[in-house]
Amino acid sequence: MRIRKAIFPVAGLGTRFLPATKASPKEMLAVVDKPIIQYAVEEAVEAGITELIFVTSITKRAIEDHFDTNYELEDKLKKAGQERFLEVVRNIIPKHVSCAYIRQPEALGLGHAVLCAKPLIGGEPFAVLLADDLIYSPGVGCLSSMVKIVEDIQNSIVAIERVSINDVKKYGIIASEPMGKQLHRLQGIVEKPAQEDAPSNLAVVGRYVLMPEIFSLLESTLAGANGEIQLTDAIAAMMAKQQVLAYEFEGKRYDCGSKLGYLTATVEYGLRHPELSEEFDAYLKERYR
Ligand code: G1P
Repeated sequence: MRIRKAIFPVAGLGTRFLPATKASPKEMLAVVDKPIIQYAVEEAVEAGITELIFVTSITKRAIEDHFDTNYELEDKLKKAGQERFLEVVRNIIPKHVSCAYIRQPEALGLGHAVLCAKPLIGGEPFAVLLADDLIYSPGVGCLSSMVKIVEDIQNSIVAIERVSINDVKKYGIIASEPMGKQLHRLQGIVEKPAQEDAPSNLAVVGRYVLMPEIFSLLESTLAGANGEIQLTDAIAAMMAKQQVLAYEFEGKRYDCGSKLGYLTATVEYGLRHPELSEEFDAYLKERYR
């Protein structure tokens, strides 16, 4: 079993970042010098994904342009002898990786967005990455680790992390039993429960590898939390038919869908950036000593 395809649901409005997201996609906001979506794409490519499927909407053209060739820019950089930048713009995705774009005509939820990509997936397992969840894992990427587990065990898997009990209402929350190091077997999953109804504080973060049977389950999933078709509800239905796993990843997740998470990511990626780390660190120490 090889996982070749990944879905990036990027149709969301990005209301929390208005006015920045009035005309530009939130996924194109940069953390230091790379748009948020590029980090997710790099994580997918590292995991061996060769077909990237973006589920987009009307204001998301910039994402397509970002992953396409810009001949005019390349020509200018070449003539100006700016080889380093030329390499940067040419190598955003490797040559063996292809991109496809499909529209989500109505904002009916994450489950609906994934279902929109069905014609491009066919009958094989696939990954889903929510770019808002920026995951820093030095060494092996979060999706790489999940893909390895699926290639072994051949079940769907979701990434999880422990969150504060006050935050369970923002996430898909699981009930589970331990299955080994960092691995759990799902016993239940519920989208955005109230604190008193949450089965645990283990929250789903935006990385999934799913068996293709999820599509027929999504087709019969009714609107759930927030009146949206929830991927979480289809995963709950899948548990009745096949085992679903949860993976407690190593590393740090930044919620770039929130201003605070985005700012934190900017500071911490700035401190890790080879060109900036020293000066930025010195600036912060001087400014906040
Ligand atoms: C989505 C999922 C939720 C998951 C979260 C992770 O919610 O529906 O189950 O926990 O992503 O970021 P959203 O953040 O789109 O409301």
